[in-house]
Amino acid sequence: MKFIYESVLDALVAGAGEVGIGTRAFRLAEMDLRPCRACNACFRDGECVQKDGMQEIYPHLLEAGAVAMAAPIFSMNICAQAKALIDRCQRFWSARYVLGREPVERERAERRKGFFLSCCGRERPDTFDCTRPVMAYFFHIVGVGSWTPLTYAGVDEAGKIREVEGALERAAELGRSLRSPV
Ligand SMILES: Cc1cc2nc3c(=O)[nH]c(=O)nc-3n(C[C@H](O)[C@H](O)[C@H](O)COP(=O)(O)O)c2cc1C
Repeated sequence: MKFIYESVLDALVAGAGEVGIGTRAFRLAEMDLRPCRACNACFRDGECVQKDGMQEIYPHLLEAGAVAMAAPIFSMNICAQAKALIDRCQRFWSARYVLGREPVERERAERRKGFFLSCCGRERPDTFDCTRPVMAYFFHIVGVGSWTPLTYAGVDEAGKIREVEGALERAAELGRSLRSPV
């Protein structure tokens, strides 16, 4: 079964591919990805002491020309796997605000783009309101200068996203917008 967020992400990835942009996707739900323990070890050196799937993801978060987070709404906010990843970016917060180091050079960060792809079962688009500060924080902390939300309310069953007019085309368009490498 394909999840709804995956269909939207696939469309964005396909759009990026059309303009020659390579992508790397991580399926968090299938990875060993633990929550932040607030041990504050990252205050010392900006590194995370937990050795799990995040160690594979970290370099991509910093080196990619763009970062997309695709996550459905569970219990009125982004799903736990996505939130765990964001919390584990505390090492970048520490690097910047404790150690005074920019994880991504400022000028490059300003050019990097972010995408937040989401869907929820309720018909109300304001269901996504509470995700805005979370995603704004995430993109800020990983050094992404601007981001675009692509959110769909009232999409509860796998496959239903295909019935939402223009949804996948809009995602593909965002992928194609990544013409110039950063
Ligand atoms: C555990 C769980 C909690 C959910 N909580 C909400 C919710 O609070 N609000 C909402 O609108 N939809 C909620 N939903 C519905 C999902 O957002 C919806 O089914 C979504 O389309 C799933 O996307 P996916 O197929 O990409 O996983 C929840 C679904 C699950 C499984």
